[in-house]
Amino acid sequence: MTLSHTDQPWPTTGISFGGDYNPEQWDPSVWREDVALMRQAGVNMVSLGIFSWGLLETAEGVYDWAWFDEIVELLGENGIAIDLATPTAAPPSWLLAEHPEFPPVDHDMTQHWPGARLGWCPSNPDFRTHALRIVRAVAERYGSREHVVMWHVSNELGGGNGHCYCDVSAAAFRTWLEKKYGTVEKLNEAWGTAFWGHYYRSFKHILPPRGNDSKNPSLMLDFDRFSSDELLDHYLAERALLKEITPDLPVTTNFMVGAEPDAVDYARWAPHMDILANDHYTRSPDPVPQQDVAFSGDRMRSLTTDRRPWLLMEHSTSAVNWQPRNRAKNPGELIRDAISHVAHGSDGVMYFQWRASRAGAEQFHSGMVPHAGPDTKIFREVTALGGHLQRLAPVLGSRVPAAKVGILFDNEAGWAIRRGVKPNNFLPYGAAVRAWHAAFWRRGDGVDVLPPWNDYAGYDTLVVPQLFLVADDTAKRAEEFVAMGGTLIVTPFSGIVDENDQVRLGGYPGAFRDVLGVWTEEFYPLQEGETFRLDNGWNGREWTEHVHVAGADVIARYEGGPLDGEPAVTVRAHLGGGRAVYVSAGIDGDAIENLVAGLIEPDRGPVSDKIPGLEVGIRETDSDEFVFLINHGADDAELGIRGAELLTGRTVEDSLVVPAGDVRVVHRRKAA
Ligand code: GAL
Repeated sequence: MTLSHTDQPWPTTGISFGGDYNPEQWDPSVWREDVALMRQAGVNMVSLGIFSWGLLETAEGVYDWAWFDEIVELLGENGIAIDLATPTAAPPSWLLAEHPEFPPVDHDMTQHWPGARLGWCPSNPDFRTHALRIVRAVAERYGSREHVVMWHVSNELGGGNGHCYCDVSAAAFRTWLEKKYGTVEKLNEAWGTAFWGHYYRSFKHILPPRGNDSKNPSLMLDFDRFSSDELLDHYLAERALLKEITPDLPVTTNFMVGAEPDAVDYARWAPHMDILANDHYTRSPDPVPQQDVAFSGDRMRSLTTDRRPWLLMEHSTSAVNWQPRNRAKNPGELIRDAISHVAHGSDGVMYFQWRASRAGAEQFHSGMVPHAGPDTKIFREVTALGGHLQRLAPVLGSRVPAAKVGILFDNEAGWAIRRGVKPNNFLPYGAAVRAWHAAFWRRGDGVDVLPPWNDYAGYDTLVVPQLFLVADDTAKRAEEFVAMGGTLIVTPFSGIVDENDQVRLGGYPGAFRDVLGVWTEEFYPLQEGETFRLDNGWNGREWTEHVHVAGADVIARYEGGPLDGEPAVTVRAHLGGGRAVYVSAGIDGDAIENLVAGLIEPDRGPVSDKIPGLEVGIRETDSDEFVFLINHGADDAELGIRGAELLTGRTVEDSLVVPAGDVRVVHRRKAA
């Protein structure tokens, strides 16, 4: 698949700054204070109307536009652009009362109740009709307003209705399968339905993977693919209507790209977005939340082949409300997180939400204006950030340069690991990918986290962490990458099954066995708390396997235990300087760092000083460079650099101090 991207101008003239704005929760007298504070903070865009359907359409085809007209007007008068939402994420109560069949049904056949959001089955054609009615009404009324600059379709599609197992979905699943396989024989072959004699005589006999008992993994994987496609189809239906009414306005929807396999397959959705948008929230406890910010940006940017800027559509000024214990951000963290996202390629900083809610399910979620009002740490930092972003205007449209290290990430592989029973059911996909990303991030190496079908040319190193499911084409291109002189690193439980989720025979990891010059006879998963040790001092947990070398050299062997003396980490040298490294054991983070240090020269990066805790990022145009210096450490960092520091407006002659916890951005011209 080739990822293309429409050539779309950015919706705001500077870096976008603002957040979800839900004025319907407040008296109109508060709206005047809102816009005054927005101007004070430098807000230039808000996402409006995301959850307003129930207040805009009071009965079928009956609309109350007056309040929305007023707020649209008020924002326009104050020079604030609108990222206008189609409000389909939250259907009105009257609609759900009339259609009790709309809410999604879980795998155990319990139906969701109204009262939350995304409470609708994506395959239901009647729901689609109602949704498109409100989309049309909103688009026809407001789409031509000059300060409506972008469409925000629904909200986090899949976050609540990622899978629906109802009868309507079951019928749609059968249609999807028929289209994919053509004949039921082909499906039987792909799913291996001879097992337990589940052979299907007709598409009519197929059901979604309902219930709690063990199901065919190939069926479950196709159901995950189908579910993502159904939601994409909903997005595309809204998009087509919006394009019919306002052909020139960019259309997006907010992704939830983090380190776990996503609800839907974002890499396959990306070509349908005019501007890619992401919602990212740090979690606690997270040993390195800053790395999670970097990881999500490194993934977002690599969803397009031209690495164009994306938009941080939501994150939080301080605590979220959906964790068991919700940590408030420390002073300075709001600005550091926000500018880290910009360093990783976002051309905007948007929050959930403008004003912290007084009522409703999210009343204890932070906002840009907290419950205590504007005379607060949060609002002061929001205002300071607004000033910083204005000073960063020259960064708009610049790109993060291509990295030398690529890490493959695929939702299908993550889904296939998560569903069904495995030799060790405690191998979270996201944690494995993040562990490898962390090793490079700590050294200051630029990393792209890319879908397996992207081009590998230009990378020196390609990491394949726990990519359980691998297509033949990916395996072939990984071989070509090594033949061209690249370093390939494959980690445990990669290349095990094909695209149908059937095991590749002849020894694991089937897809990479030849290029790695090894074959694994048997897995030896460990028990909780059990560890292993290798003869070079590395330790690890969760996973070991009995590897045979067939052309590879051994880097480290097991010491003790049932695999004593057997190979654990190997490298196969290829003609032309290429290397294929197999890390067959679940080695700890410091062992990963050690291995990386022994194999790969660190990225020289844009500055010569490597200071612990100082993250250095770069964005560039043909003529200019913007060096982002983000000090996550507790001490001030001093480094040698020259250029114009954008946030303080000072010229840096030879050295710059980045205060502890703070950020600086140095603009310099590239040598001609
Ligand atoms: C997002 C969602 C927002 C808000 C936020 C709270 O997932 O899109 O509407 O609920 O979480 O963190």
